[in-house]
Amino acid sequence: MAIKNQNANLKNVAIIMDGNGRWARKNSLKISQGHKKGVQIVREIVEESILQNIDSLTIYAFSSENWQRPKSEINAIKKLVVDAINDQVPELKEQKVKLKFFGHTEDFGEKVIKKIKYAESETFCEDYKLNLNVALSYGGKQDILDLVKKISKEVFDKKLNIDDIDESKIHESSCAPVNEIDLLIRTGGDKRISNFLLYQIAYAEIMFIDKFWPEFSKEDFKECVSNFQKVSRRFGKRV
Ligand code: IPE
Ligand code: IPE
Ligand code: MG
Repeated sequence: MAIKNQNANLKNVAIIMDGNGRWARKNSLKISQGHKKGVQIVREIVEESILQNIDSLTIYAFSSENWQRPKSEINAIKKLVVDAINDQVPELKEQKVKLKFFGHTEDFGEKVIKKIKYAESETFCEDYKLNLNVALSYGGKQDILDLVKKISKEVFDKKLNIDDIDESKIHESSCAPVNEIDLLIRTGGDKRISNFLLYQIAYAEIMFIDKFWPEFSKEDFKECVSNFQKVSRRFGKRV
């Protein structure tokens, strides 16, 4: 009998797609061209994630801290988000990829918000093959701060008992649409988390890849998945 899901234990993958700028510089291109190439790579990794039967792919597209970048770069990224949605939503819909954007997406302004809403409603389906979650203007610390305020207000308004605050309450109050990350990949050579999904990566396997994101291939992704399969995940137990 064929094994339907060979990656039954690999459900939720997150990626810090780093290195677009350095890749552009290395190839004497504009930074915006690095980001453009980065979007093409996302498309490839989405295809591979479907083949690998992964449930969710959560990608870091723009952090709370990235607002400190030059205005020209931020504008190029805003345009890329709109263009990527226009170009890719019909195909993503056909492939049953359910899109979800999360973070302080409102910071991106009316035009981007409208596109995001369109992308989410167009790709909404019950029998999805992959959840593609895109972090936009997201910061893990900000997320925790927001959810603490949200939960505190519920307690203050007497809608929630303090004793009923548990892990699932924290998960449902977070803006992140995924609970436990199984595998976190960061490209670009740096070994840090840069304020991504702080709560959700508590037990993630973390892989740091030296290649810049625009150089990351389906083969590299498959290698990460295969390395994940070899890891003994003990979760604190004696096995
Ligand atoms: C990651 O690539 C994409 C974003 C942060 C938007 P970078 O733009 O950070 O690339 P490097 O790290 O400067 O090479
Ligand atoms: C992390 O990359 C954010 C994204 C990939 C969107 P950065 O390039 O912003 O992170 P730092 O500055 O190296 O920590
Ligand atoms: Mg970077």
